[in-house]
Amino acid sequence: MQGASVSHAGAALTDAVVGLVVAAGRGERLGGDLPKALRSFGGRPMLAWAVDALKPVCGRVVVVGPPTRLAEVAAVVPDVIVVPGGATRGASVRCGLAALDPLPRYVLVHDAARPMAPTSLAERVLAALIDGARAVVPVLPLADTVKQVDSDGLVVSTPDRTSLRIVQTPQGFCAALLVAAHRDEVEATDDAALVEALGAPVHTVPGDPRAAKVTTPADLVLLELGRR
Ligand code: CTP
Ligand code: MG
Repeated sequence: MQGASVSHAGAALTDAVVGLVVAAGRGERLGGDLPKALRSFGGRPMLAWAVDALKPVCGRVVVVGPPTRLAEVAAVVPDVIVVPGGATRGASVRCGLAALDPLPRYVLVHDAARPMAPTSLAERVLAALIDGARAVVPVLPLADTVKQVDSDGLVVSTPDRTSLRIVQTPQGFCAALLVAAHRDEVEATDDAALVEALGAPVHTVPGDPRAAKVTTPADLVLLELGRR
């Protein structure tokens, strides 16, 4: 689904949108002493970039931070609401949703670990919501062939790559649908999977290579190089 631009939609619309930035992970695969969201990227904490990308399209931004580092998070993003996260990404999303009172019309859930995701990507997701989608994910085609393997590492099958997509954030939802999807506290690697489990359609919009997630030290180096 490709919606119209929301750049001229104005304050009335953005008031209906909350950006929920999940930043409570430990960043174990990245390593180091700081939680990943507080690690420096391009001269400032990664989290600051993610929040800045959402701000132009969101009336409010809520950041879900590591429970033991809330003061540091608040110092990085002083003008947003900061709440403590949970043990898993899903639990952290639920912590953020619990802080939304009143519930807005739309929620954009975004990983702090995607510091280069541009505002235009959030706009594209929001435009699809405004066009009537209740759940929207940005996607990219796969560059590599994908294999399904068994526990011994033997190849089981080669899925048809043309029907597969890499999924990014921000993911956009009608807030009430997202709350319903999280009600049973089932774990999934993204929020859209919980909406799929409800049987609700999840729409796609074109993703952006810049919205790549920082997971490993190599990701951090490559994304930093890409900024220059
Ligand atoms: N996240 C979160 N709460 C958690 C786990 C993850 O808010 N309990 C957030 C992370 O801060 C990150 C996003 O979810 O912005 C994507 O998760 P991931 O890339 O896995 O980050 P981490 O969990 O921090 O990294 P790792 O799995 O390597 O520890
Ligand atoms: Mg993780």
